[in-house]
Amino acid sequence: MAEDLLRAFSLASRDLRPCRLWRAQLSVRNVSKASKAAQNPGPAGPDLAGRAGYLVEVAARAPSVHNTQPWRFTVTEDAVELYADAGRQLLEDPAGREMTISCGAALFGLRLAIRSLGYQPEADLFPEPGQRQLLARVRAGLPAPMTHDERAMLQAVPHRHTHRGAFEPGPLPGGLLARLKDDAAAEGATLVVVEGGPAYRRLTKILGAWSRKRDLYPTSHAEIQAQTETQRWTREPGSQARDGVPAHAFPAAAGREPGHLPQRDFDLGRGWGFSPSGGPPAPVTAVLVARGEDEQSWLRAGQALQRILLRAASQWVFAGLQTQPLQSASVRAQIRGSLTPTGSPQLLLELGVARTAHPTARRPASEVSTDR
Ligand SMILES: Cc1cc2nc3c(=O)[nH]c(=O)nc-3n(C[C@H](O)[C@H](O)[C@H](O)COP(=O)(O)O)c2cc1C
Repeated sequence: MAEDLLRAFSLASRDLRPCRLWRAQLSVRNVSKASKAAQNPGPAGPDLAGRAGYLVEVAARAPSVHNTQPWRFTVTEDAVELYADAGRQLLEDPAGREMTISCGAALFGLRLAIRSLGYQPEADLFPEPGQRQLLARVRAGLPAPMTHDERAMLQAVPHRHTHRGAFEPGPLPGGLLARLKDDAAAEGATLVVVEGGPAYRRLTKILGAWSRKRDLYPTSHAEIQAQTETQRWTREPGSQARDGVPAHAFPAAAGREPGHLPQRDFDLGRGWGFSPSGGPPAPVTAVLVARGEDEQSWLRAGQALQRILLRAASQWVFAGLQTQPLQSASVRAQIRGSLTPTGSPQLLLELGVARTAHPTARRPASEVSTDR
């Protein structure tokens, strides 16, 4: 078991250059400790505080809007608490929807890390009603060995990334899409696949109208605010920043090619990003739908997101994510009206195979966690 877990973080045979950074952060000591616990999960439960660095680093590999990493963790002997860090909330996300989804993704990673210690995680969402920033308290429950699927997802943590380059031609591996839908459902969300043809045309029509409106009012307050925030959260080539979207992760020109969803413009004409490589359309476009428009639903949608992304990445399938159009309540309502009749659309995904890995940096565990 110990060797298996170490192998899970040793992916030397693949193109993982940027991952070395991360593997260096996730110390072998912590992984070994985790492995020992997984070998002998006892009824007393693991000492979570003793493994805080490992747990937080796995959780913090989650995607987050603009790589803001809007989370904080407090680790005690028997529980890890996840807090939203409102200081990192975007102005263009006034309700904290995208912040909460991001934290939900981190929560799934935390649960997976506890699974890797050989225990069932027990997550209590919003455990203190008076404390809205406290999103979850997670404890280790009964001992239970990790499953093959969970191990594959854990193994995908280092190389999962948001993909903004070209996908390889061809469909997703057989059976994967059905598994992704099951993953979303298991977390209390829905993954709605936008089939080609009329449904896809309806989606691009909605997004096209939204884009045209933005082009008409380039100096509107919302537009200026979005650009200012994008500038604040993007990093120039060679930057050592541990948060924000690095230049190697976005194209120099936001794609607007037919067959692709319009991308968020991270470059803003600065010429920092990589050369857009075109490529065939993503074989799958999907909408992640939450049960409702409330914090619980967003937190669940975030867990679904990371579960989907890790399952996909375990088969070298990655996703481009789009939320900018969905910041408009009217766009969300239109998508709900024509594509996702139940629930509330939160995120657009384009999924395809890619054999590259471009992970982005994270703040160290010590910066995002406190012991108690
Ligand atoms: C709630 C949420 C919204 C996001 N919105 C977008 C988006 O509109 N466009 C985009 O390219 N990426 C989007 N992302 C992806 C983040 O930019 C990405 O997760 C972050 O930069 C960290 O990079 P990584 O996913 O490669 O680890 C979003 C992610 C989350 C969780």
